[in-house]
Amino acid sequence: MSKNLEGKVAVVTGASRGLGRAMAVAFAKAGAKVALVGRDTGKLAETAALCAAAGSEGVAFSADVTSEADVAKVEKDVIAKFGRVDILVNNAGINIRKNVDEFTLDEWNSVIGANLPSAFLLCRAFVPHMKGKGWGRILNMTSIMSHVSLGGRAAYSSSKAGLLGFTKALAMELAPEGICVVGISPGPFATEMNIPLMNNAELNKQFLQKIPMGKWGQPEDIGTLAAYLCSDAAGFITGTDILIDGGWTAQ
Ligand SMILES: NC(=O)c1ccc[n+]([C@@H]2O[C@H](COP(=O)([O-])OP(=O)(O)OC[C@H]3O[C@@H](n4cnc5c(N)ncnc54)[C@H](OP(=O)(O)O)[C@@H]3O)[C@@H](O)[C@H]2O)c1
Repeated sequence: MSKNLEGKVAVVTGASRGLGRAMAVAFAKAGAKVALVGRDTGKLAETAALCAAAGSEGVAFSADVTSEADVAKVEKDVIAKFGRVDILVNNAGINIRKNVDEFTLDEWNSVIGANLPSAFLLCRAFVPHMKGKGWGRILNMTSIMSHVSLGGRAAYSSSKAGLLGFTKALAMELAPEGICVVGISPGPFATEMNIPLMNNAELNKQFLQKIPMGKWGQPEDIGTLAAYLCSDAAGFITGTDILIDGGWTAQ
């Protein structure tokens, strides 16, 4: 991969593992410095080491993205460290798989809170640092569940469909600034979030049957896509959503 993000600073939430870690490493490979946001400081340190091995700097910033105070501190600390932000990836997210009549309000609010208002808080914090430069990239981790759904996904689908709407609205606000806002909608990927499905032989089989390509996605594929969407070559892509799902939504 070329060093086409040299000189850029990227903030990636949920960088302690899974898709966020893969995107952080892909950005580091492309030459960007990366602010790694999450709660698990040990895992963030591991991602920082992977960024260093990929040839650039990754720095951990511990924060709960649902907390307005934590996000305000991350903004202050990232700007103090790097002086700028060019790329923001709203990737942190959670899922609770339950039927609607089994959800407590706290569980419902925790899914919505981690997946939707978090993106608003991060954008409100960092968009002012992107404006006025004529270039910026915001990626929101939506989902195939923004487009289609399954039983037991009401809170998750609601949050991810909301994030898709947020992506389009923010793209309209920021297009005149040269800031592209794009959703990435993964299908099922082999990450910790899906361990309960992958470790259940029957559910694993059901999922593999529903994926036309017959395999779970690999996080590195998301890293490659994210690095492309943040390159100059993708500067006319905004207000849309890229499905990367092995064919799931084409059926
Ligand atoms: N894997 C898939 O198949 C798939 C499919 C579609 C969409 N997605 C979306 O892609 C994103 C990443 O998924 P993943 O599979 O990589 O999940 P994962 O392995 O469970 O990782 C989730 C990440 O989000 C962070 N996070 C969660 N709540 C947070 C909070 N309140 N504050 C700060 N960080 C928080 C976690 O960090 P800490 O624990 O360190 O806080 C972790 O780094 C999510 O938004 C998910 O909904 C995933």
